[in-house]
Amino acid sequence: MKTLTIKQLLQKDSTLQDVKVQGWVRTRRDLKSQSFVELNDGSCRQNLQLVIDNSNPSFEKILPDLVNGAAIYAEGDLIISPAKGQKYELSVKKMELYGPSSQETYPIQKKKTSDEFLRTVAHLRARTNKYSSMLRIRSELSFAIHKYFRDNGFFYVHTPIITASDCEGAGRMFNVTTFDTSKPMEFPLTKDKTTDFSKDLFGKKTFLTVSGQLEGETMALSLGKIYTFGPTFRAENSNTYRHAAEFWMIEPEIAFYDIYDDMDLAEDFVKKITSHVREHCASDIELFSKFLDKDLPSTLSNIIDNSYERLAYTDAVSILEKENSRFEAKVSWGVDLASEHERFLTEIYFKKPVIMYNKPKNVAAFYMKLNDDGKTVRGMDLLVPRIGELIGGSERENRLDVLEKKMDDFKMNKEAYWWYLDLRRFGSVPHAGFGLGFERMMMLITGISNIRDVCCYPRVPGYAEF
Ligand code: 4AD
Ligand code: MG
Repeated sequence: MKTLTIKQLLQKDSTLQDVKVQGWVRTRRDLKSQSFVELNDGSCRQNLQLVIDNSNPSFEKILPDLVNGAAIYAEGDLIISPAKGQKYELSVKKMELYGPSSQETYPIQKKKTSDEFLRTVAHLRARTNKYSSMLRIRSELSFAIHKYFRDNGFFYVHTPIITASDCEGAGRMFNVTTFDTSKPMEFPLTKDKTTDFSKDLFGKKTFLTVSGQLEGETMALSLGKIYTFGPTFRAENSNTYRHAAEFWMIEPEIAFYDIYDDMDLAEDFVKKITSHVREHCASDIELFSKFLDKDLPSTLSNIIDNSYERLAYTDAVSILEKENSRFEAKVSWGVDLASEHERFLTEIYFKKPVIMYNKPKNVAAFYMKLNDDGKTVRGMDLLVPRIGELIGGSERENRLDVLEKKMDDFKMNKEAYWWYLDLRRFGSVPHAGFGLGFERMMMLITGISNIRDVCCYPRVPGYAEF
């Protein structure tokens, strides 16, 4: 007898004799002669209803164990269900208990479902509808991303997680060391009495990467079109709904692209992956539209069907300056725009995704290409309703002399970036790329409003449980 998943069973076009299912009990209800168990196995949002003849003596022993959270397997016939809202049910002939649970102490109870509470039991929250739907969408979104790039001739490259370079230059990196940090007095010291990392495992100071971009650029300048998809780390103490210390980033990098090609790619990419998930996770998306965010269908259409506004930073400032009374941080040319400004532009002013480009060089990373005005760089951010910045990218500075000058201005140690500068010495070409925050993309697609609830185990300031 073949074990089928609940998803497979519910897709059958006819009833079936003698099937076997396994999963976790969601609820149980008893009538006089029958008990009904809602079984879920994670394969899809739907449960399978097990119908049990509770007068049958062979079920006598297992019946008290059929409580919320228990793991069981059941054999029986898949029959048409007379009940509303479900196609089939299983008329049970045999059952066995894999692992018991406890009705009283099982943490996932119908009445205790706040996000805050469920974060404290994140090892079990995937047994709820909301989190299992979220995780299935997360899986499909990953697949959609790989598919998009594969279909468009990109190569997937794996850039290092431990790095000696600081891509974003914001000093927000986690240190990686083999020195015993519980004994700082024993760290080897240099002549200047600073920690001597030349004695550490890598012979230099190393960090967890904030971005695979710099290494990605080196691969793009040989393979043409590449992307990375991996974990990145930011040691910033930002306790917000959209910042995590560990998050996954997707970073395409393309040789011979300029900033305009980069914007076109970002728009097409976000549209296609959103559309893929809407099509392939319809039932899971429906759960979020029904119970979490009734505007989700229109949010998704807004992302998929609209053309994204192209807005130069200087024009964005002209719009925002007129609205300064509504902002906490006042806007004038040269400031780094904050989340409140980004959200105003995309949510209220344009009511659709906005790609803002050409920002002032002093609020941009060192690698962004300087424009001829000498004041702005070819950076771009994709802003979307509810989230703000979803993507950050740029055309890269490909001129050796300009890049070296930039690095001096940023007080960077050029020797450490010899390999990055080599790219500009040997066969330098215009190139561009961007980074998409995977968790922010998940928030956009599901309507989930906190980054802590779109991953298995969030890593945020003050919290690294599990
Ligand atoms: O704008 P960021 O910092 O850009 C880079 O790291 C570039 N090196 C990317 C590139 O051009 N290859 O980060 C890119 C995206 C942001 O737009 C945001 O979606 C996400 O990464 N992100 C975060 N997501 C969650 N938590 C954080 N702390 C994040 N910081 C950035
Ligand atoms: Mg950014």
